[in-house]
Amino acid sequence: MILDHRPCQDKKNNMKIFIYSLYFLPHEFLVFFIFCDLEGSYQRSFIYFEIVYFRYSIWIDSKMRLQTDPMLILEYFLWRKKSEYAISNHYDRHCVWEEVDQNKRLNKYNHSAIDEQFQYYQSDGLVKFNESDSSAPLPSYVPEGSFIVRAHTPMSNLFSCLWFNEVDRFTSRDQLSFAYTFLKLRRMNPGKPFSLNMFKDCERRAMAKIFHHRVENTSSPGTSTIL
Ligand SMILES: *[C@@H]1O[C@H](CO)[C@@H](O)[C@H](O)[C@H]1NC(C)=O
Ligand SMILES: *[C@@H]1O[C@H](CO)[C@@H](O)[C@H](O)[C@H]1NC(C)=O
Ligand SMILES: *[C@@H]1O[C@H](CO)[C@@H](O)[C@H](O)[C@H]1NC(C)=O
Repeated sequence: MILDHRPCQDKKNNMKIFIYSLYFLPHEFLVFFIFCDLEGSYQRSFIYFEIVYFRYSIWIDSKMRLQTDPMLILEYFLWRKKSEYAISNHYDRHCVWEEVDQNKRLNKYNHSAIDEQFQYYQSDGLVKFNESDSSAPLPSYVPEGSFIVRAHTPMSNLFSCLWFNEVDRFTSRDQLSFAYTFLKLRRMNPGKPFSLNMFKDCERRAMAKIFHHRVENTSSPGTSTIL
């Protein structure tokens, strides 16, 4: 099924990128991105790359392997729900406050940089996630970004662009900036619908299996994706 395979390198972020594309409608591509940085640890910074000429994309990171037909994935996560952006919630954490604690506990990033980002978000209106509020703007404020399904609509492109701005301006911990970005997008575009499908982590597990990350094997770059 893989027709095209183009490894390229992003010097700024020291990442090696693999793009897998496949035709499924005339003039349209379905794309898989797998980004691996050269140190061997995976990076979810898919939002660095805005490839607008694709109609749909499925992002899976390098520790995962798709086990479902990509057409079924688009149908299940986007078309059936009439959504343009689908991402799963985190299996455990739903509040940015918890995510901040966890990032610090595991030393994922410079603590003062995390504090700076977090304080800015609070000053700009981010509040704790309230699980019992049925009118909450999202089912969770913490995503699991290893599997993202997108239709490349103007609003989904704008969301990705704003998310990238946060990752670029503050820390690269994209789980910290997701909810803020979403709320900011809604605030900036009150009249424009944006259909984001935040699904449950178990649904993601049914579609893509997580494999333990291994050091990228350059002699066989295609091994991490098998359709
Ligand atoms: C941590 O972040 C702060 C604030 O952004 C910065 O001033 C400091 O140099 C950083 N420390 C390290 C070790 O990178
Ligand atoms: C959470 O939402 C519920 C239902 O809307 C509300 O009664 C409660 O006060 C909220 N809790 C906080 C801490 O805002
Ligand atoms: C990398 O892939 C090649 C070809 O499949 C294999 O022979 C080799 O053992 C692999 N190396 C590592 C370090 O996994």
